[in-house]
Amino acid sequence: MTQTKLFERTHYCADVLTSRLGDEVIVAGWVRKRRDLGKLIFVDLYDRTGVLQVVFDPERNPELMNSAGDLKRESVLVVKGNVSERPPDARNPEMLTGNLELIATQMRVFNTSKVPPFHLIGDQEVTEELRLKFRYLDLRRPEMFRIMKIRHDTQQIVHQFYSDHGFMEIVTPHLIRSTPEGARDFLVPSRLHKGSSYALPQSPQMLKQMLMIAGVDRYFQIVKCFRDEDSRADRQPEFSQIDVEMSFTATDTLFNIHEALMQKIFHKVLNVSVECPFPRISYQEAMEHYGSDKPDVRFELKIKDITDLCMGSGFGVIDNIIEKGGIVRGVRYPGGASLSRKQIQDLESIVKVRGAGGLVALRIANDGNISGSPLVDLLTPSQRDTLKSTLNATANDLICIVAGMKSIVENSLGTLRLHIAKQLKLMTDDLAFTWVTDFPLLEYDEIEKRYQAMHHPFTAPHPEDLDLLESNPQACRAQAYDLVLNGVELGGGSVRIHDRILQNRVFQAIGMSQEDAQKRFGFFLEALEYGTPPHCGIAFGMDRLIMMLAGTDNLRDVIPFPKTLQAVCLLTAAPSPVTNEQLEVLGIKLINDQQKHCET
Ligand code: AMO
Repeated sequence: MTQTKLFERTHYCADVLTSRLGDEVIVAGWVRKRRDLGKLIFVDLYDRTGVLQVVFDPERNPELMNSAGDLKRESVLVVKGNVSERPPDARNPEMLTGNLELIATQMRVFNTSKVPPFHLIGDQEVTEELRLKFRYLDLRRPEMFRIMKIRHDTQQIVHQFYSDHGFMEIVTPHLIRSTPEGARDFLVPSRLHKGSSYALPQSPQMLKQMLMIAGVDRYFQIVKCFRDEDSRADRQPEFSQIDVEMSFTATDTLFNIHEALMQKIFHKVLNVSVECPFPRISYQEAMEHYGSDKPDVRFELKIKDITDLCMGSGFGVIDNIIEKGGIVRGVRYPGGASLSRKQIQDLESIVKVRGAGGLVALRIANDGNISGSPLVDLLTPSQRDTLKSTLNATANDLICIVAGMKSIVENSLGTLRLHIAKQLKLMTDDLAFTWVTDFPLLEYDEIEKRYQAMHHPFTAPHPEDLDLLESNPQACRAQAYDLVLNGVELGGGSVRIHDRILQNRVFQAIGMSQEDAQKRFGFFLEALEYGTPPHCGIAFGMDRLIMMLAGTDNLRDVIPFPKTLQAVCLLTAAPSPVTNEQLEVLGIKLINDQQKHCET
């Protein structure tokens, strides 16, 4: 065989399983491990399918021994040989190809690797920084292949699913007009129109709505979105959405379709069945019982309101809070009566971080007696019983109570509830999907002193609450929904406004003048007046979905080339300074102290 022919792989490493003993095959891959056993040299060769043991035996091919002895970890080569059965005592049941080996007859090394900065197998502690700097090596790890495969499979299912349901995939532009609302836009300065900039889309929201006006009827796209906001474990400045919009459709249909999509994805990718329909709970109920708009409903531990019970108890702090319009709620810590004082202080510090003044922790003894706070003595025996039954608390439990303004109580008890569940390992492998519906249309922005759209300003108010838009904006519900899985917001969407007059009322409610709305969204408002069908839509965070499928809680693990929390790509060192010339053609001049960052 000539050297050139040796380039032609006949089998992936794991595919030798399909060949017969004695077959001549050519495999290509990287050196995972080399073991010199006196006369024989064993090399674990791997590619994206798995690992294959290659044996270099001087009796069969003496010339190869020298080059095999020099093989360095992570070098890449092609090797020809015969598939052979391993002797019984050398079989490795842990390995897919553990009964086989390849007796090498020819080899060609394409590229010898430098010593990699970290081991690609095993559970050695490697910093994420190092992994991201050498991401191409990190991606060679089987775990990363597993995740990339999950992503690939999911994308194929998504494409097929929507296509089967009559959705058209339409690509929307990445250079669009800046219409900041929500996060900050990433801007792309224009060379041809100096002083003007494109923006990278935070989502194709208006574009997909205009596709409905265009009569597309059902649209989907797996699309990149860009948001210049602080990164978190579940947020990236550049991320992917499964973006969807539908005309003439009731939300029930949208829910049904997407329950079927989730069912299909989890079945095909993980071979697990997902029960449909998904439960639906209102935003109000989610906040009241779970202290979160993304409730983890895998475990009960509901937060319960005990404001009425505590009202006028004579417990000064709580009475004061209730008088000022605050509320009192509690959550049960099963078996928590035996927690030490220090452990209870730790619980208190959790709620304090969320703004609560403190935590009232009541122990329930074996005999049902409650103790732990002067509040207990101020309650009548029947109130104490009601307290226990309201919180479903029994012997040996701890009752955790927080009093304060509504949002603080919800937030702090919501966090405490999750903490208790983690401590008690209540977060099972179950898949608890939940639709959260009827979000408020608006939220008050204390800094800007005005209302803002909670989802986005194109979201339709709840038909029953239209009159509240002006009279009591805070109470006006939206036809907006989120899909939550195990406490993670997978997606969100809404019914859209398809009527210009209602759209104007919403702009007014968020303090946006006609002129301002015209300046920002004039093109869209005009489009609304050319036969806009009723429509609704949703977008799922693709990366978050993959995160759930892969069983990781770090979004960076499922994005091949992610940014750090500081929005930096450690592999390519982006963002990077640019030259003065580059800036000049764009008509941009840096202000003084930024000048020094400019590349010269
Ligand atoms: P929304 O802003 O709620 O809605 O986003 C939809 C989903 O996208 C995911 N997501 C993110 N994932 C990773 N990093 C981020 N920075 C990030 N931001 C959002 C979340 C979220 O649920 N246009 C509307 C949707 C619509 O109304 O149809 C939108 O973008 O999983």
